[in-house]
Amino acid sequence: MTPQLLDILRQLSHVDFRSGEEVARRLRISRASVHNAVQEAEALGLRVQAVRGRGYRLARPVSWLDAALFSPELSACGVRSQLVPVLDSTNSHLMALAQSSAPHKLLVAAEWQGKGRGRRGRAWLAGLGGGLMFSLLWRFNRPAGELSGLSLVVGLGLAQVLRELGLHRAGVKWPNDIVVGEAKLAGVLIELAGDMLGPSTAIIGVGVNVLGAESLRGAVEQPVTDLSEHLSERGLDRNVLLREMVLRLNAYLERFDAEGFAPFRQDWEALHMHQNQIVQVFDARGGVVAGRALGVDDSGALLLASERGPLRFHSGEVSLRGGA
Ligand code: BTN
Repeated sequence: MTPQLLDILRQLSHVDFRSGEEVARRLRISRASVHNAVQEAEALGLRVQAVRGRGYRLARPVSWLDAALFSPELSACGVRSQLVPVLDSTNSHLMALAQSSAPHKLLVAAEWQGKGRGRRGRAWLAGLGGGLMFSLLWRFNRPAGELSGLSLVVGLGLAQVLRELGLHRAGVKWPNDIVVGEAKLAGVLIELAGDMLGPSTAIIGVGVNVLGAESLRGAVEQPVTDLSEHLSERGLDRNVLLREMVLRLNAYLERFDAEGFAPFRQDWEALHMHQNQIVQVFDARGGVVAGRALGVDDSGALLLASERGPLRFHSGEVSLRGGA
């Protein structure tokens, strides 16, 4: 996806058909570029309807992000927003800006990521208009070594917003997936810059599946879902989602910086999908331990009552024992 292709797709994202000639004229490009763009769009999995004598249109119009619909309320609480249509990754982009003294509370959202990244080196995939992808730069007063509960606070805030928007079954999976039942709805990728002792900088990346989970099912290992499987059209407005999520993160991150994870612990456990369930935890070295998930401690570590006695995990992956 290039910025020009995205511009062409905006022209075709309408109920009415538009001729190649009209699109070319509006964007001051050649008709051949429009024709090529249609082919490229199809190669990216977008369905373009073409009718002789009428032109083209996207089979499913995209509901675009619009900074005017989220940035005023965000700037009122000090968050500066950048909407960049096409990027490799909002996290990578913001990480580069962080190194050249980007301000605290800078938000970057994108319509399309060419190299979206997930945790553990996985890719993060989303079709055009099908995902909400953003990253927020936060400069903490506490050192990076004291940010262990951060990803849980972020997951909690996102899940609560989704519940308030009507997705009452949204929950959290340790450490920071947002799930409905066993299916993943959203993920968080936090990357830290700066040293372990002084004030620290975090790039907090969030990806939410809004539409099109069916096309992700072949490509990702775990069960996935999207908002359209749970909410009506009104709940799928990415501008509202973005605004509400960032407002909540802003409030929670300020409190987390001052007080740490402890004040969030009870609320997190209330939304914990595996609370008191028998689970297995896969650690980073390939080991696996089964036990009852008791919740988390004040640093966000997972507490497990295992046959070997009580265990505490600072990293790892959890799944329901015998589950998906
Ligand atoms: C996960 O593996 O669950 C984390 C997924 C995080 C994806 C988001 S999309 C916006 C931001 N930019 C990226 O490249 N990744 C994060």
